[in-house]
Amino acid sequence: MTTTPHSSNELDIRSLGKRYANNQASGGELQVLQDIDLHVPAGRFVSIVGASGCGKSTLLRLVLGLDAQYEGRILLDGQPISGTGRERGIVFQDHRLFPWLNVAQNIAVGLRNAPLSAREKRELVAEHVALVGLEGFEKSFPHQISGGMAQRVAIARGLVNRPRVLLLDEPFGALDALTRSRLQNELQRIWQKERITMLLVTHDVEEAVFLGDRVVVMQPAPGRIKRIVEVNLPHPRNRSDPAFIALRDDVLGDFIDLDADAAPAATPPPERPGLGLPGRLQLAW
Ligand SMILES: Nc1ncnc2c1ncn2[C@@H]1O[C@H](COP(=O)(O)OP(=O)(O)OP(=O)(O)O)[C@@H](O)[C@H]1O
Ligand SMILES: [Mg+2]
Repeated sequence: MTTTPHSSNELDIRSLGKRYANNQASGGELQVLQDIDLHVPAGRFVSIVGASGCGKSTLLRLVLGLDAQYEGRILLDGQPISGTGRERGIVFQDHRLFPWLNVAQNIAVGLRNAPLSAREKRELVAEHVALVGLEGFEKSFPHQISGGMAQRVAIARGLVNRPRVLLLDEPFGALDALTRSRLQNELQRIWQKERITMLLVTHDVEEAVFLGDRVVVMQPAPGRIKRIVEVNLPHPRNRSDPAFIALRDDVLGDFIDLDADAAPAATPPPERPGLGLPGRLQLAW
């Protein structure tokens, strides 16, 4: 399946606001997102980082079309989105595979409404099994593969329908650091090959800078954009490149500021091994 030749796959979010009914005793409404303006150019990779509860998943739910109650506009190639659609795919933190389906069948779920013959679907599934490096595991069931492999199946399922935009909500959040770093490399490789417009939500600043062309820093209560950082570094990124480290630390500084307001530390926090994250941030997140 191919996208229409005139489509550019760009996503435009304009003055987006979202309120939920507040079920606390006070009643009223909770403003979760406010004045979100975000342009995701076609084929680019945009990362969103922000503290827990600042509305990242809510934003992706709105772009996916799961909730039509919002203010502002969400446009794909200039057209307002309407409900969910095959042109927008999503990968969640937990892989959400069906335990009674094998790897190939789980990937094929992404094609269930596609107007393709059985043979075309089989070919696409095989192509995506290979894309995420799972040849030989087509007939394995979710309980027979590792967490990282299951997450790769979820990525293949999200990609198999050739969405114009792939939304990723903490796709590696439940994985150990080594598997996470491997899958980040793999996602970067897939994105370079497929050039699908990607919007990634993460808690992990290093992941955001490693993958994103642009990093959107959100702040909470209500969730809004604090700033947008351009990552003008060539792909594939090198985590030990001083320019990469400088950008990562620059973005991390936003969260240290937030945290410092709540609980100023007399001494610098210890480094978290491997990730270079100040220990205090782990508590805040
Ligand atoms: N269906 C809902 N009804 C009422 N409030 C909701 C609903 N869904 C989310 N919220 C509230 O909206 C806010 C943002 O939630 P959201 O899940 O978008 O945050 P998040 O940034 O994804 O957090 P995390 O990083 O922990 O996943 C939270 O205060 C949450 O309690
Ligand atoms: Mg979330």
